[in-house]
Amino acid sequence: MLAARAVRQSAEEPLSGLEVADGPPGAVPEGWVRVRVRTAALNHHDLWSLRGAGLPAKLLPMVLGCDAAGVTDDGREVLVHAVVSSDDWRGDETLDPGRTLLSELHPGTLAEEVFVPARNLVAKPASWTFERAASLGTAWLTAYRMLFTQAQATPGQTVLVQGAAGGVSSALVALGSAAGLRMWVTGRDPERVEQAVAWGADRGFAAGERLPEKVDAVMESVGKATWQHSVRALRPGGTIVVCGATTGGDAPAQLEHVFFRQLRVLGSTMGTLEEFQRMVRFCELRDLAPAVDSVHPLPEARAAFERLESGQARGKVVVTV
Ligand SMILES: NC(=O)c1ccc[n+]([C@@H]2O[C@H](COP(=O)([O-])OP(=O)(O)OC[C@H]3O[C@@H](n4cnc5c(N)ncnc54)[C@H](OP(=O)(O)O)[C@@H]3O)[C@@H](O)[C@H]2O)c1
Repeated sequence: MLAARAVRQSAEEPLSGLEVADGPPGAVPEGWVRVRVRTAALNHHDLWSLRGAGLPAKLLPMVLGCDAAGVTDDGREVLVHAVVSSDDWRGDETLDPGRTLLSELHPGTLAEEVFVPARNLVAKPASWTFERAASLGTAWLTAYRMLFTQAQATPGQTVLVQGAAGGVSSALVALGSAAGLRMWVTGRDPERVEQAVAWGADRGFAAGERLPEKVDAVMESVGKATWQHSVRALRPGGTIVVCGATTGGDAPAQLEHVFFRQLRVLGSTMGTLEEFQRMVRFCELRDLAPAVDSVHPLPEARAAFERLESGQARGKVVVTV
């Protein structure tokens, strides 16, 4: 089975441990189903796995990839929900201490086929392409939960997104704009900020720029490089939701701002199957489609990883099978 696998890990040169090659097919675990992958999408998570974060070395080689859309053996066109919870877990699966994402314990989606628990499938809207469906996975689900479940943002509020044109940032802008929020973004590069505005952000700012007014909520995935700005951008009682720390997690906490202005700092990780179903319905209702940066055939998946690692991708990097 052709797949993109992590075979080694290197913090400095993550792509040195990537192999795109044929390998033995696996067996479908009991209660799981096979999905023949038509399209998969990359996430920063795949780079972390190659760097040695989140994926134990003893599990190598591991098929990478969390997101996919494809066809089941009985002919259903589906999106794959990447969060795998313990069999006996009930309730919000992101709170299950035993949960994993596809490609952390079980083989991932950057392959000709992937096995997932039967409950982890969501019907693909008939009018959507597989490319569109696969791109609405991890980044969009994470953005949906950050905005609506964690920040509980309501129409008319102002939300600052740190990072302009990455996977999570672009999803936040699209979802927030469609829900009537005033979406502001910051970015490192004026062209990427312009891109975010073209995608629907109400206003763009340079990284660290002083804002014209305080915001109700900040969506953080950048980490150390933007954390100080995030804390200072909030109105008293405002909320930061943090889902990642691309530039490092060791930012000064600035506790004096946190307590004096009664800020709420909330972590957020992926989302539940129910949130995934609601997000797909919301995207269908509002005809939201993810920004796709580039599309690469599976045998050329290395080029897809190079694009993601370059930091230049605008929206999702997609692999077709
Ligand atoms: N907890 C979860 O469930 C979850 C889910 C998804 C993602 N994440 C995490 O969230 C982060 C983003 O994921 P992604 O898939 O969106 O990655 P991505 O597509 O590679 O995008 C990276 C983003 O980070 C910004 N950025 C990078 N370096 C920066 C710097 N030095 N200063 C300012 N901005 C910088 C970029 O902003 P510009 O556009 O301005 O360049 C871009 O928006 C990753 O760390 C990922 O692991 C977590």
